Amino acid sequence: MTLGDALPAVEQPIPAATGRAWIERLAAAECPALTTRRRRRQEQTGANHDPIVWVEAVGSNVMDADGNRYVDLTSGFGAALIGHRHPKVVAAVRNQAERLLHALGDLHPSDVKIQLLERLCALAPWDDARAMLSLGGADAVTAALKTAVLATGKTGVLAFEGSYHGLTYGPLAVSGYAERFRAPFAAQLQPDVCFAPWPAPKTAVDAALCALPSDWSTIGAVIVEPIQGRGGVRLPPPGFLRGLARLCRERGALLIADEILTGLGRCGAWWRSVDDGALPDLICVGKALGGGLPVSACIGRHEVMQAWGDPDQEAIHTGTFYGDPLGSAAALATLDVIEGHGWIEAAAIRGKGFADVLRHAALPGVGEVRQAGMMLGLQLNRKSQALILARALLERGYLVLPAGARADVIQLAPAVTISDDQLEGFVSALRGALAAS
Ligand SMILES: Cc1ncc(COP(=O)(O)O)c(C=O)c1O
Repeated sequence: MTLGDALPAVEQPIPAATGRAWIERLAAAECPALTTRRRRRQEQTGANHDPIVWVEAVGSNVMDADGNRYVDLTSGFGAALIGHRHPKVVAAVRNQAERLLHALGDLHPSDVKIQLLERLCALAPWDDARAMLSLGGADAVTAALKTAVLATGKTGVLAFEGSYHGLTYGPLAVSGYAERFRAPFAAQLQPDVCFAPWPAPKTAVDAALCALPSDWSTIGAVIVEPIQGRGGVRLPPPGFLRGLARLCRERGALLIADEILTGLGRCGAWWRSVDDGALPDLICVGKALGGGLPVSACIGRHEVMQAWGDPDQEAIHTGTFYGDPLGSAAALATLDVIEGHGWIEAAAIRGKGFADVLRHAALPGVGEVRQAGMMLGLQLNRKSQALILARALLERGYLVLPAGARADVIQLAPAVTISDDQLEGFVSALRGALAAS
């Protein structure tokens, strides 16, 4: 087995001496919030929550500073959809680095930036699309929120409880994930946001739509994750997004689909919202787009993006590194790989197969297994259990993320390229971790 497809090999304690030294340096240099969070988790769960320090990653394998090898079922927060350090992405980045690292963004763009914009417009679900590039997911959400204000003249936003759209000010204001994230900054957040309940999967679509506020007079945008990720891999009822899109049209609001985690094939289709029958007005994309480099985009229908106005005026939304050549080259290579190797169909088929295996494994303590393509959520019975289990799995060599406001969901977002052996190994490790917890 080559590195990338290999099973875990955890032979050193987590952390051992080298990792420990790095963690001490981290604690002395990093914002204390993160060390404090680890300590609090330790107190909450009684388990060690020291991080591993990554020194190498390829395919679905990660190596830590102590020489341990892991299998990454998070694909680096979803960014390594086609695996870490995909050779075609690395080659594209190398070639680009030989030629041009930085250009003058919106003033004098690079050739690769233009190619990436064209490519994203061609992938969009409208005949005529326009795109704006940026770096992180939160940037793309910010661009979409601003677009909606310009296009509708209304500043109100309808968002959902449990949603996560990023933590810069615009996205934070519309993230219903946890009140404690917003509370310290409440005075600086845009106030015109209302949060609707996120419908359970078996709710009738009409009932779910009826639970939305009745007064839309100030609402210019509805922002939705087609599947809530950090909120606990929560799928809405089938057809809910389609109904939401219809309601937006009737009420004069724009539908923003935050496909930062769900898009680009992760859920077995380019766009999960479109797969559910919805035609959003704006789509946010990030994470997987850069193949490991920070690249994101807000893509919109031409008529909507037209609201940015007269191109002779100053660009009122841009950034020094938005659409940078290196990231653009990486993104083009990533899209080539996703498109050219049938990974979207593979995500649909492999994800379903993996979920079936997990369901039939009758794992004690695991309730529902939720799945769409290679995005899965394992519902656990107890609050905070995902924190304990994630650690127990790490010690067995598998990286997973706890999710849900109660930390009772294990979120899996493996690379579409992960090997069958690695998936099977995970199921055994999970059984062992559950038995020991
Ligand atoms: C659905 C969704 N939107 C937005 C974001 C924010 O992206 P970023 O962390 O790159 O700003 C995330 C990150 O997890 C996400 O899952």
